[in-house]
Amino acid sequence: MSTQGKTQTPEKVTTQTVVEMKRKGERISMLTAYDFTMAGIVDRAGIDVILVGDSASNVMAGYETTVPMTLEHMIYHTSCVVRGVKRALVIADLPFMSYQVTAKEALISSGRMMKEAGAHAVKLEGGRTIAGTVRKIVDAGIPVMGHLGLTPQSIYKFGTYKVRAKEEQEAEELLEDARQLEEAGVFSIVLEKIPAALAKKVTESVSIPTIGIGAGADCDGQVLVTHDMLGLNKDFSPRFLRRYADLDKSMTDAVSNYIDDVKKGDFPNENERYN
Ligand code: KIV
Repeated sequence: MSTQGKTQTPEKVTTQTVVEMKRKGERISMLTAYDFTMAGIVDRAGIDVILVGDSASNVMAGYETTVPMTLEHMIYHTSCVVRGVKRALVIADLPFMSYQVTAKEALISSGRMMKEAGAHAVKLEGGRTIAGTVRKIVDAGIPVMGHLGLTPQSIYKFGTYKVRAKEEQEAEELLEDARQLEEAGVFSIVLEKIPAALAKKVTESVSIPTIGIGAGADCDGQVLVTHDMLGLNKDFSPRFLRRYADLDKSMTDAVSNYIDDVKKGDFPNENERYN
């Protein structure tokens, strides 16, 4: 049948797609988005996975940590993103204290994220201590992504955002956490800010894809916060961050030019008015 004249619907990325990508040795690209417009941009550019991260707390709301984020906030951001996406897999972070108290509560939070926001999967921070909870969510038919290494929701426990698992014991524990998460049924694991050699070891030890942020080049995929890689956040310059644009400058210049034009009476001109 001819498809001429019809808009082609892109093939959607699923959790199975990313697992298959690891098997085929294809790298997985992942970025964050918290709103409809940004989600549409990164989706149309061809990103595989969009994470509605609770980094929205810092980036969108201006909080210092991710701790204040609520389930309602995350459902709102996720629903905005889902409406802007045609192809990418959309994963939503479960915020702090929406899954840690009981597995039942975690299941209810995950269910709301899927039903009310339209997420395709949820992400939880933690290792063996939440493996039982992960299993229950997965058993209910909800795909789960794990998150090990630097887990920002535990900032008050660790006290810093420094590299994790540099010592042998913590590295061994992280490796075991990854194995237990895989056994509990996660389809992928984010590895945040850990030594590259450890990330490589974890990646080789599990059959599900690892997605690194500050974890070196041997993970199966990479994730960055979109606002950081676009240069919208000048105050954040960790070693792992590569900036692909300087949107802070471009946007500031554009706004300055607009102000100048308005002040000079140059905007609007004859073509920018109705007669
Ligand atoms: O919240 C977030 O943006 C994240 C990524 C940094 C992995 O968890």
